[in-house]
Amino acid sequence: MLDLLVKNASLPDGRSGQDIAVRGGRIVEVAPTIAAQAAQTLDAAGLMLTPPFVDAHFHMDATLSYGLPRVNASGTLLEGIALWGELKPLLTQDALVERALAYCDWAVAKGLLAIRTHVDTCDPRLLAVEALLHVKKKVAPYLDLQLVAFPQDGVLRSHGIESLRRALDLGVDVVGGIPHFERTMTEGAASVKLLCEEAERRGLRVDMHCDETDDPLSRHIETLAYETQRLGLHGRVNGSHLTSMHSMDNYYVSKLIPLMAEAQVSAVANPLINITIQGRHDTYPKRRGMTRVPELLAAGIDVAFGHDCVMDPWYSLGAADMLEVAHMGLHVAQMTSVAAMHQCFAAVTSAPAKIMGLDGYGIAPGCHADFVLLQARDPVEAIRLRAARLAVVRRGKVIARTAPNTAALDLPGRPAQVDFMPRRDG
Ligand code: FE2
Repeated sequence: MLDLLVKNASLPDGRSGQDIAVRGGRIVEVAPTIAAQAAQTLDAAGLMLTPPFVDAHFHMDATLSYGLPRVNASGTLLEGIALWGELKPLLTQDALVERALAYCDWAVAKGLLAIRTHVDTCDPRLLAVEALLHVKKKVAPYLDLQLVAFPQDGVLRSHGIESLRRALDLGVDVVGGIPHFERTMTEGAASVKLLCEEAERRGLRVDMHCDETDDPLSRHIETLAYETQRLGLHGRVNGSHLTSMHSMDNYYVSKLIPLMAEAQVSAVANPLINITIQGRHDTYPKRRGMTRVPELLAAGIDVAFGHDCVMDPWYSLGAADMLEVAHMGLHVAQMTSVAAMHQCFAAVTSAPAKIMGLDGYGIAPGCHADFVLLQARDPVEAIRLRAARLAVVRRGKVIARTAPNTAALDLPGRPAQVDFMPRRDG
């Protein structure tokens, strides 16, 4: 007897008419027709079942704080950091926990079941760290939360290495950094070395905010790739943002990208934030600021799209919808070929899962029975429609449902209803 049987699903790799059998929280079989008894059946009716959305770059300690204590008037990164500095002394653990849990509710509703969140370690009280460690434990049955020790004010600039180490001692999973915010390029490079060595000693992964600037001479990604290579951290280091790469000289990048590939350093672009925050010192033409996603992918580098922020000092919008993130990434990077659009879908599912080192991720026998039924038939349609999450399943149990997106029409001689999915004959 199965716990759950999904009938007639399409999968992101293009297979259709698949049944998925679940027992004990795991997928036990994927095949065209499975005729076993099941406690619960979910009829996919030909729609796409995808592994859950994954966000490899977020700030859960700041989320849903929009307007506290005021709104970012200029919309710049630096005013956002200053505003977060004003908010920090006012934070309470209860309020942090409550906002983070509320965001996790939104995430589950949108089929987003794994999030890597940076957590500011510069406050010596480690209020946010303790709050998010509590949240991580609390949401573990339904959402995988990975924490990054993030010295927002610069680990050297703010003398923050001791509080960062204490955060890691408390159980924070990943070592973060922000080299472009240190006082000088030299100190930025020194911070990369210091933090990578800390990760190497502890056997941890690294994920740094790296070169989130329009300055083409901000080249800390080069040091990050070098330190990864030197310390043997291959496949465990990620560079987040990398926006300076947008403005770098092409000749320099032709050397840099192979260095990243050699060190197996992955990249996370954050299209919603990058498109609103970068290029703010430009008149026209105005740079878009997102890193070179197609070029990185062509070099075999793992690239994910992150949400970064939702309703916080840096970004006023957002609703935990990774399809909205993929949609923006696709447009900004002009990834409009069919193959590239599939890569944009992978950038919010399988690519961030790999970057985070999630195990048992996917729709295959042996994987966790975690998946999302979308009101779409393939990845491109899912992005086009920011498709409704009809059912969200965690460990074989439906934990969220959304009604299909349809509109009722009252037009002479026309259909009574539209769902924005054109007929596919044959
Ligand atoms: Fe960030």
